[in-house]
Amino acid sequence: MCRLAGILLLLVSLFSFFNNSFVHGDNRKHNKAPYTEEERMAEYVRQGYQFPFDTYYPETPGFREIMDQRFAQIRSLTDTQMKWDGWIQTVNAAVSTPNFTEYGWGLSQAPDLLTLDIRQAIYEGLPRARSEGGVDVIDGPVNPLFIDRPDLNARAMRELQPILESWAGIELVPAQAYGFRLYRNESSLWMHTDRTQTHVISCIYHIASSDDSEPWPIVIEDYEGNTQMAYLEPGDLLLYESAKNFHGRPTKFDGSWYTSLFVHFYPKGDWQHENHDTKAHYAIPPDWAKVIPNDVVPKLEVIGTSMMNPLCDDHWCNLKTAKKVFGPGQYNTVLTSNGQISSLHLDGATDDEEL
Ligand SMILES: *[C@@H]1O[C@H](CO)[C@@H](O)[C@H](O)[C@H]1NC(C)=O
Ligand SMILES: *[C@@H]1O[C@H](CO)[C@@H](O)[C@H](O)[C@H]1NC(C)=O
Repeated sequence: MCRLAGILLLLVSLFSFFNNSFVHGDNRKHNKAPYTEEERMAEYVRQGYQFPFDTYYPETPGFREIMDQRFAQIRSLTDTQMKWDGWIQTVNAAVSTPNFTEYGWGLSQAPDLLTLDIRQAIYEGLPRARSEGGVDVIDGPVNPLFIDRPDLNARAMRELQPILESWAGIELVPAQAYGFRLYRNESSLWMHTDRTQTHVISCIYHIASSDDSEPWPIVIEDYEGNTQMAYLEPGDLLLYESAKNFHGRPTKFDGSWYTSLFVHFYPKGDWQHENHDTKAHYAIPPDWAKVIPNDVVPKLEVIGTSMMNPLCDDHWCNLKTAKKVFGPGQYNTVLTSNGQISSLHLDGATDDEEL
């Protein structure tokens, strides 16, 4: 019996190692688990983990509350694969990845000239846009479109790096600029976190949308446990700690197309020498597969690397109490939770106001 359970757990972890993610073009499907369930448990003990977890990063009452609620939702799931995938995402977000900023997100704006040049490229590329193919966190009747402009991806990465470095307060290594994706009518993007190894300090750069588009908020959880709904204008940057702050666009897009670029960086230095993708695995408790029913927390479903609440409006219950934030953001400043605004002190930019 015990042996059977061990084999079952091992199979589950082998099967779902790296969590079948295909969020922003990072395909983890082909990796194999480098450990057995016994080795994983030995490491759990060696690293001194226990559940409930001792420490969350960051340790604030609001963040602890929202993560604890998610753990309770995951513990009540009956599907073993959903459970394992849910554990990995939530442990990554709450326990095994450090935070680099106070609230985990901010609204800013890209240099005007960069936005203008990319907008022009998007309008020129529209008639020839290709299909992106299926993306497992995106729901909707049609797959997104995609415009390939690697030259502009590289330029955006170069020009946005100082903005993200100043915001995060650390030096960064460019990992990926993924785009240009064009979401299509009736699309939604389930709530998720990104790959910890390379998607640490990131931004969603909104370029343009069709004239018939309704406003379409990006939803992100902050370190006070609040849910923020940000309505981006063209040129706006949603800065975020992509491996830690659950984000998505759970409401349905209404319009012909809506395009963004996703730019990801990771910390310079030792970061790349550690395996951050497996870190979370060792923190997951031995009895993770146990089903603990819970009638208090809203029902959760885990779809690959993403999450939704099937019984709430727009598939995400916390939208009911979300705080709305409206662009345009301002170049050289960051607006974040509680209306807090700070300067990025970028070279060559003038701080016209004392902030
Ligand atoms: C992490 O978040 C906490 C809570 O907001 C904050 O006090 C702390 O300064 C943050 N860490 C860094 C390195 O910014
Ligand atoms: C998007 O879908 C909705 C619902 O079917 C429809 O009412 C609307 O006209 C569509 N918009 C576009 C631009 O196709």
